[in-house]
Amino acid sequence: MCQVRNEAALSDYFNAFRVADLRKGWGQPKLILVSTFRCLHIFNMEEIIKKIKSKKPLDKLDDEFVKGFINNFFKTNFKLNKKYLEGKLKKKDLEIIIKNVRNELNKSYAQFWTGNKLDLKSHKSTKERLEIYQRVYDHIFSITGEPKIVLDLGCGLNPLTYSYIGKNVYFVCVELTDYDCDKLRNYFKQNGIKGEVVKADLRTFNNFSRVDICFMFKILESLENKGHLLAEHLIKSVKADYIIVSFSTVDIKGRKMNYPRRGWFEIMIKRLGFDFEIYEDYNEIFYIVKK
Ligand SMILES: C[S@@+](CC[C@H](N)C(=O)[O-])C[C@H]1O[C@@H](n2cnc3c(N)ncnc32)[C@H](O)[C@@H]1O
Repeated sequence: MCQVRNEAALSDYFNAFRVADLRKGWGQPKLILVSTFRCLHIFNMEEIIKKIKSKKPLDKLDDEFVKGFINNFFKTNFKLNKKYLEGKLKKKDLEIIIKNVRNELNKSYAQFWTGNKLDLKSHKSTKERLEIYQRVYDHIFSITGEPKIVLDLGCGLNPLTYSYIGKNVYFVCVELTDYDCDKLRNYFKQNGIKGEVVKADLRTFNNFSRVDICFMFKILESLENKGHLLAEHLIKSVKADYIIVSFSTVDIKGRKMNYPRRGWFEIMIKRLGFDFEIYEDYNEIFYIVKK
């Protein structure tokens, strides 16, 4: 019964025996049971995931995605990882894990989704662009020409602005959770938008079809926290005539950056042999990259 409730691994039970100091005391079943329960209650992986996801909007994330962040946390926190593996995590340790993992999940997902409604104000990035959308699209297409197929990576609620782009365009957009993708699919249906919504984790997804233009609006810095290997991988793997990459020009406190251009990105693009033009509007800098 205990195993069903806690879904414990065999190693958890060995730990329980160790905690109860019963390695040689097989004749004390009650103590084993009590100790097993105490030992498993806090550090079961599924329970950690459940606690992390108990805060909205993190509840929309797949368990596997959250588990990946927990494992990343353990990679840099050897002490807590050791305690976890040995079944010695205390409630206090669990709180530290939950806080740190939630912080990371907020950076790449939760901070952007500010509401459940299907309007541009329910996502931080589209809300910021409300007044400039038409101007931004006009400028981009004056350089790239009118597209027939657009790929929008980490699209957020950007699809709500596809009517500005045109009726005869086919849109492929990618987002992280089933919940957000289903909302967008409904929006496509209700508004007669041609295209498809793909649920995928862009850190591993690699199946890009050929398009005219790919939007990577404000995603590169939120997808990775160290280095730029993923950004380079995405730029190389996308099959598009143009890639439009944007970055914020304000810091997290909303102050204008002194140097909004991204040197690392410009160096990378030149090294890969592509040309780019820059367009800056309101709180965002756009790199229009010709592939
Ligand atoms: C900064 S927002 C940009 C949204 C949109 N591109 C825009 O500028 O309006 C980043 C988006 O990427 C999505 N996202 C975060 N991690 C992702 C991942 N691993 N795979 C796919 N999408 C992801 C988030 O849900 C969020 O909507």
